[in-house]
Amino acid sequence: MGRLQIPAMFCLILVLSVSALASASLKVGFYRSTCPSAEAIVRKAVDKAVSRNPGIAAGLIRMHFHDCFVRGCDGSVLLKSTPGIPSEREHPANNPSLRGFEVIDEAKAQIEAVCHKTVSCADILAFAARDSANKLGGINYAVPAGRRDGRVSIMVEVEQNLPPPSFNAEELVSNFARKGMSVDEMVTLSGAHSIGVSHCSSFSTRLYSFNATHAQDPSMDPRYAAFLKTKCPPPSNGAGRDPTVVLDALTPNRLDNKYYVEVRNHRGVLTSDQTLLSSHSTRGIVLNNAKHGSTWAAKFAKAMIHMGSLDVLNGSQGEIRRQCSVVN
Ligand code: HEM
Ligand SMILES: *[C@@H]1O[C@H](CO)[C@@H](O)[C@H](O)[C@H]1NC(C)=O
Ligand SMILES: *[C@@H]1O[C@H](CO)[C@@H](O)[C@H](O)[C@H]1NC(C)=O
Repeated sequence: MGRLQIPAMFCLILVLSVSALASASLKVGFYRSTCPSAEAIVRKAVDKAVSRNPGIAAGLIRMHFHDCFVRGCDGSVLLKSTPGIPSEREHPANNPSLRGFEVIDEAKAQIEAVCHKTVSCADILAFAARDSANKLGGINYAVPAGRRDGRVSIMVEVEQNLPPPSFNAEELVSNFARKGMSVDEMVTLSGAHSIGVSHCSSFSTRLYSFNATHAQDPSMDPRYAAFLKTKCPPPSNGAGRDPTVVLDALTPNRLDNKYYVEVRNHRGVLTSDQTLLSSHSTRGIVLNNAKHGSTWAAKFAKAMIHMGSLDVLNGSQGEIRRQCSVVN
């Protein structure tokens, strides 16, 4: 097959699978008559921001995940705290590391100017995550839309729903299963760690204080651990600094399957990355994804659509926010 035909193949497969995957309530082209320019406005805002800083694409894909796993894809991750009620945004899993809020705000402001209170913030985030995957990975898919925005965001619900980076494969599998997502989808979506960064604090126990018998995590290539130690000071000696390292050192700004090659080579950064090779239930999927990039990319698109449909508000539930960071 010629190079140029591969993208066309993706599109065909994806169009065919969309109807089966989208939840009953979401529809591709939801804004076709009510706000036909909505998706183009989001794409432009993402294009502009990601051209300046590719890390924003990583931020937006991660933000969609953090939205969907906590109270469903309802834009709850975008809400600022209200007096006495810290929101999801304040949780250490999101603050200060989650990035890209200003891109959502800009797209929303431009959309409000042409279609007032019509396009939800939850949908804007779903479009922005897709556009990010397209820009850094050439992965394209149609986003079923029609999500409504929630009115509630509670900080502690983050740790009740999002997996921490210390989880092993079994814990990750059961965390995703609670959302109705399969082992294959969990491993496939972890491939998002093919772009973006991690703060040292998210994995530094692997370098300095693993357990009683091993200072260093033996599942990490010792040469890679030595390299990471040059980037990450010991927690006791960092003077409060928390630098970042790229999650995929081979192609840090390309959303591709090289993440799995890194994990295969024991160069996964987080415990939750490297465990996917250690566990029997996930090892085969890692090795397959490392070998077959276009199969992984097609699975990634499908899994993003599934994740994007989790526990959505529809019909007259919730609202269409005027501003993404506050309820109406
Ligand atoms: C499987 C369980 C997962 C765990 C435990 C996990 C955990 C983490 C952690 C700890 C970071 C680094 C945060 C920091 O220290 O700055 C991170 C970054 C990231 N995660 Fe995940 N993640 C998981 C799944 C996912 C999924 C499903 C997606 C999206 C589909 C995703 C997308 C990202 C992206 C793109 C980044 C880089 C963010 C940036 O550079 O701003 N992750 N993840
Ligand atoms: C420390 O980790 C290693 C490697 O995972 C393991 O074999 C060993 O039993 C652990 N030791 C303790 C004391 O937990
Ligand atoms: C909302 O979603 C539910 C569950 O998917 C579905 O049964 C219902 O028909 C939807 N309502 C509207 C108004 O779209």
